[in-house]
Amino acid sequence: MRHLVTLDDLSNFEIEQIFRLAAGMQSQLETWAGICRSKLLATLFYEPSTRTRLSFESAMERLNGGTLGFADPQGTSATKGETLADTARMVTNYADLIVVRHNWAGSARVMARYANIPVINGGDGSHAHPTQALADLYTIIRRKSQVAGLTIGICGDLQYGRAAHSFALAVARFGGKLVHIGPHGFQMPPWVLARLAQHHGQKPLEVESITEVIETLDVIYVNRLQEERLPPNLNAETARGSYLLNAAVMKHAKPDAMIMHPLPRVNELAYELDDDPRAAYFEQSANAVPIRMALIASLMGLEQLILTQPPQRNIVVAEHSCENSNCVTIHENYLVPERETFSGDVELHACAYCGSLFSS
Ligand code: NCD
Repeated sequence: MRHLVTLDDLSNFEIEQIFRLAAGMQSQLETWAGICRSKLLATLFYEPSTRTRLSFESAMERLNGGTLGFADPQGTSATKGETLADTARMVTNYADLIVVRHNWAGSARVMARYANIPVINGGDGSHAHPTQALADLYTIIRRKSQVAGLTIGICGDLQYGRAAHSFALAVARFGGKLVHIGPHGFQMPPWVLARLAQHHGQKPLEVESITEVIETLDVIYVNRLQEERLPPNLNAETARGSYLLNAAVMKHAKPDAMIMHPLPRVNELAYELDDDPRAAYFEQSANAVPIRMALIASLMGLEQLILTQPPQRNIVVAEHSCENSNCVTIHENYLVPERETFSGDVELHACAYCGSLFSS
């Protein structure tokens, strides 16, 4: 059974196969409609969503499959205390594939473990958002033909933005050069930096203001401040409004740069850029549909694109609990903590659920 919990679940080859299939589906929808007839996709959204849920539902229905699920957990047994494991077991009986979005980091991995059907992570806390990263890379490749060799700036709340984390790791895998532009206190977390260094030998330039680097960027990927995830002791006032991409800033950018944003935007990306030919954010959300169609068909085994063996990972039971208070292992007490080891110049241990580094 193949799942997509993080992009570590797919090889680069598989990602490229998904892109090829998505391009085929985009240009010749009639050929593919019907491939999911009599299949059901469950969308379990414990957190708000517009694009991710609707584009998954759109993708499934364009393949003539059906959808069921919820967009608000208030109407579900989660309010009675049902665990993710039990919910996963139930939904296995009702659908052929699950997309889950949940506030706890690592929640999608729990679903994947207990469901007997493929599970896709639609965003887990501030950990990962792998399908967004696939749509993002695909959008870059369609405009620029490849990621390798591009200088890609990620700007905004890099600390709590899951889309930023998955995007950074994906860019590095495909040979892009990263620049991190985060206000003080909102820089990329150590677990992402450690993986970039360990796996890709990248130590991104880190700056606080976009104006310092704007001339050098081929792609400018903006993220909103993740207000709903900020710890209660953090005063967002100073960060709010501390970064804004607008026409004045873009005057200094390359004429063929790309402006990206996973959306929703709040006040970090000016509307005046919407007609700038460099704006690619609406394209990104449109490309999410063929990408999610290709992913659904691949994970359900309807297309012989996915290799049968998932990439090997070095995971064992951990001696200590995870130190991230938002990790699913802290909230659901039947889970045994597990750690993943990355060997390289230095050996790193990270929570196998939420990705945070273990200090010992
Ligand atoms: C992102 C998310 O939910 O993480 N939205 C999305 O799926 N496009 C980004 C965000 O909410 O800031």
